[in-house]
Amino acid sequence: MTTTKHRIETFGPQHLAGALRLSQQAGWPHRAEDWALTLSVSDGVVALDGEVVVGTALCSCFGDVATLSMIIVDASMRGRGLGRELMAAVMDRAGPRAMRLVATTDGLPLYEKLGFVATGTIAQHQGIALTATPEQAVTEGEPDPALDLAASGMDRTNLLARMGGVGLRTTGGFTVLRDFGRGRLVGPIVASNDASARALLAEAARRCAGGFLRVDLARGLSDFAASLGLAHVGGGIAMTRGARPAVPSDFKTYALVSQALG
Ligand SMILES: CC(C)(COP(=O)(O)OP(=O)(O)OC[C@H]1O[C@@H](n2cnc3c(N)ncnc32)[C@H](O)[C@@H]1OP(=O)(O)O)[C@@H](O)C(=O)NCCC(=O)NCCS
Repeated sequence: MTTTKHRIETFGPQHLAGALRLSQQAGWPHRAEDWALTLSVSDGVVALDGEVVVGTALCSCFGDVATLSMIIVDASMRGRGLGRELMAAVMDRAGPRAMRLVATTDGLPLYEKLGFVATGTIAQHQGIALTATPEQAVTEGEPDPALDLAASGMDRTNLLARMGGVGLRTTGGFTVLRDFGRGRLVGPIVASNDASARALLAEAARRCAGGFLRVDLARGLSDFAASLGLAHVGGGIAMTRGARPAVPSDFKTYALVSQALG
């Protein structure tokens, strides 16, 4: 293995501009604000070559579960062990928690070697939203951390309180519509049934009609999203390590907060 001259440091706000350069280099749409929100609920590390950020990795602890994200190595420094080193650092921060991540094809071999196993696929849909009529009444209302915990096993009270945007509620679930990347993003979509999840997604599309909207679907709704103008453009592989058996719940996560935060 080729050795590299770099050092690993705790990720702080001073590293955000360098981190943004890396995510843009990887073709990801994150804005500085998107990085800042994720960092605000995370611990993380950067790899520095002098003062230049050449690698990033974040760990967000939500109760008994940690999500690992923003694992990026500068294109000129890949294949030299830096990704593995960054992963070791954030896995250390996750401690005994179950770990989750959404893998790109680039990351998959590394995560498999580290003991992560695939649990499903995430379908990224996006496009210019078409107007729609929700099949159930949807009103504005605060996100519900208890429903989110029941669906995901993650206590994201702090994240849901600070992520901004507008909360939308039906009798069967809730979602949040907020600015992200190239436009807006809807998620999480937490619902007890498909009809409620569709109504929440349709209301988001109605509110964004004519503008860019993204949703990262964790279960079903792909055809419905496409009918709202949101084409399937890719996605990732949901992976876990050290998962405990899920507590049964009527509520399910239909769409993620983001690929980073599950
Ligand atoms: C994923 C990424 C972070 C890996 O970083 P890296 O520094 O190149 O990774 P490493 O050199 O530490 O390689 C880690 C291991 O994965 C293996 N690996 C990496 N890419 C591989 C590939 N395409 N095929 C097979 N094995 C691969 C390496 O052989 C290495 O194994 P080893 O430690 O047993 O020798 C980097 O490719 C990247 O930044 N990609 C773009 C952003 C991205 O997609 N990130 C993943 C987000 S989930």
